[in-house]
Amino acid sequence: MLAIARMDNSDADGQAAPRHVPVMLAEVMEHLAPQPGELHVDATFGAGGYARAILQVPDVRLFAVDRDPNAIAAGQMLAAEYPERLTLLPGRFSEMEALLARHGVEAVDGVVMDLGVSSMQLDEAARGFSFLRDGPLDMRMEAEGLSAAEVLNTFREEDIAAILKSYGEERRARPLARAIVRRRKEKPFVTTFDLVGVVEQVLGAPRPGKKHPATRTFQALRIFVNRELEEVARGLLAAERLLRPGGRLVVVSFHSLEDRIVKQFFKARTGRGQTASRRLPHEPEPVPPSFVDLAPGGVAPSAEEVADNPRARSARLRAGRRSDAPAQAALPQLPSVVPGGKSRWGGKGRDGKVAPATRKRGRRKP
Ligand SMILES: C[S@@+](CC[C@H](N)C(=O)[O-])C[C@H]1O[C@@H](n2cnc3c(N)ncnc32)[C@H](O)[C@@H]1O
Repeated sequence: MLAIARMDNSDADGQAAPRHVPVMLAEVMEHLAPQPGELHVDATFGAGGYARAILQVPDVRLFAVDRDPNAIAAGQMLAAEYPERLTLLPGRFSEMEALLARHGVEAVDGVVMDLGVSSMQLDEAARGFSFLRDGPLDMRMEAEGLSAAEVLNTFREEDIAAILKSYGEERRARPLARAIVRRRKEKPFVTTFDLVGVVEQVLGAPRPGKKHPATRTFQALRIFVNRELEEVARGLLAAERLLRPGGRLVVVSFHSLEDRIVKQFFKARTGRGQTASRRLPHEPEPVPPSFVDLAPGGVAPSAEEVADNPRARSARLRAGRRSDAPAQAALPQLPSVVPGGKSRWGGKGRDGKVAPATRKRGRRKP
């Protein structure tokens, strides 16, 4: 089976991981449960690891989305194996309804989202995703928008600090941003190793058995450049609208920022936290749950899988089955990026016109 290593800079620690091993494949298939004759969406095709497994089920029709043109190009061989059953759709999963509408599809039985970057993207130095490989400091999944180098070379120090704090949860965001601005005055950032050098000056050299000090910085820039969190929030809403009653949504996330969004989404959509008895007379009726939780608390990879593929260790699977209630409109909370390197969830995020509710200080993290 063709598969893919679930790799993410947030977890890449220099260990040589096997290539092409899809993360939590058995658990994904168990929760997605594709049945003969059904119609499914693989919203993050990557190297086609999940897609190939889904296509093993007879008569399943699969639409596979990926925003990376290289992933779509590499998938043509698989598409040729299943000419009647697999359609590759270049584009973002936040736009999956429009992508499917072009093929006359308005409702589906399953959507799977495997968030983050693929091993193909990480392994190719020219993409600039990996702090372990020297290449242009790019990090764009599509060839459009600002590259990571342009962000570092042109943004204000306080905005760089905010990005590192909010999207990398980097505690030393401010000194790092200061060092970045100091360095770019001497020589603009061009390569991944330019950035690794500055991070190591501020945070120290990598230590055996510890995460690489550039992990959080690379994660933050990648999320910012690709607007990844807004994509996740909008992708979940698109899936909710597309799924017919009984349809399954399965999401595998890889770091806490993604997982928090997915967790909040399922919490709101399954009606957890809404109890009729606590409702005051002037409060609106509770919204009928649009999902039934299929994996309460989320599912982690097995110890065996983590032993075989250490990069799977941060994966979390969450899943729900669509009810017949209408889809809801509210976006999950996104972290707001506050200049100066502070981070908070809620408020207006800089990478979108999203204005989710603000959290009160001192409340537990969702
Ligand atoms: C972890 S890989 C998926 C691996 C895949 N499950 C497999 O088994 O081969 C994530 C893929 O999602 C794609 N991706 C990330 N964000 C996306 C988005 N917003 N829309 C569409 N594709 C996206 C990336 O380009 C990457 O190829």
